[in-house]
Amino acid sequence: MGGARKSAADPVLAPELPFTPDAVADRLLAWYGREGRDLPWRHSRDPYRVWLSEIMLQQTTVGTVIPYFTRFLQHFPTVAALAAADIDEVIALWAGLGYYSRARNLHAAAQVLVAEHGGRFPDSLEGLLGLPGVGRSTAGAILSIAFDIKAPILDGNVRRVLCRLFALQENPRSSAAEKKLWCWAELLTPAGAPHDYAQAMMDLGATICVPRRPRCPACPLSELCRARILGLEADLPLKIARKPVPLRSQVALLIERDGAVLVRRRPYEGLLGGMWELPTAEFATGEEAAGTARRLGLHLGGAAPSPVGMVKHIYSHFRLELHIFRCRPAIQIVAEGTGAQWIPAADLQSLALHGAHQKALRLLAPTD
Ligand code: ADE
Repeated sequence: MGGARKSAADPVLAPELPFTPDAVADRLLAWYGREGRDLPWRHSRDPYRVWLSEIMLQQTTVGTVIPYFTRFLQHFPTVAALAAADIDEVIALWAGLGYYSRARNLHAAAQVLVAEHGGRFPDSLEGLLGLPGVGRSTAGAILSIAFDIKAPILDGNVRRVLCRLFALQENPRSSAAEKKLWCWAELLTPAGAPHDYAQAMMDLGATICVPRRPRCPACPLSELCRARILGLEADLPLKIARKPVPLRSQVALLIERDGAVLVRRRPYEGLLGGMWELPTAEFATGEEAAGTARRLGLHLGGAAPSPVGMVKHIYSHFRLELHIFRCRPAIQIVAEGTGAQWIPAADLQSLALHGAHQKALRLLAPTD
């Protein structure tokens, strides 16, 4: 193990490192050589693939992302193909992954790349930060993984590893902590192996330095880890009480006519923009779902809604309880004046329905 040495970056933020950056990188890279995961986006250094995987992996696990990544590339094998695509196609391929602004930003960024960069990815931090949806950590990941350029990354996994490695005993989301974490991320990234180092850190966070019950005996950094040495590995990163997530209650109506179902598209701007859903109305928690269902039914020309069940779904900023009702179509003409449209029931599966409405469909599947 190397001795401590003065930080080259910032004597206030990192007055003295408890280990040398090389001690970390050497151990981590040796471990990655043995244990690194074989993931589809690691088969090439094409910045388009690296970028796509990084965007998909924000807030989403590797196992969920893999089939989406493969399907997306089959449809849009190049930046140019993505830029030329209809946004509806992009959103449809994203359906189920959540955080749909990522899909809209991806499409917008592809258009910027074609319009301003000749369809090629810039290999600078400034250039990458100019793309919609690309923040500092994603830019760092693209520079490291696609271009092998030294650039720090600080995604959720790396953040957790660093909090433990340095035994950061403060709110990891405070601006003071944020500065330290970026500083440490920068200091530890080896100039000679950014490509492997970035992925090694991600793998360590995802497979060993996991949120609960970290697998310290299997960790290549355990003898350096300050949290481990201090017996704090289970307590770090410090958990900060989150604001309670509000609960929203809605009804959704299934109105069928001649093998078609009434659906509508959400406005492109705003929450879940461009996604499809069954006609929906919100009601205050504590109110009766049935009354809201009747009023919405009347508005759309559906009659006598009968309850089918309720599904719960968690979105980024709220929890939703969606009460589903089946309705007879009574005054068809009304429905057609509301912006809703009839879609053949068989096509519903391929529509980009947002999460709660996908669950609603599964609930409705065994039709009588
Ligand atoms: N999480 C974020 N980026 C990743 C990557 N390239 N490989 C595995 N997990 C990741």
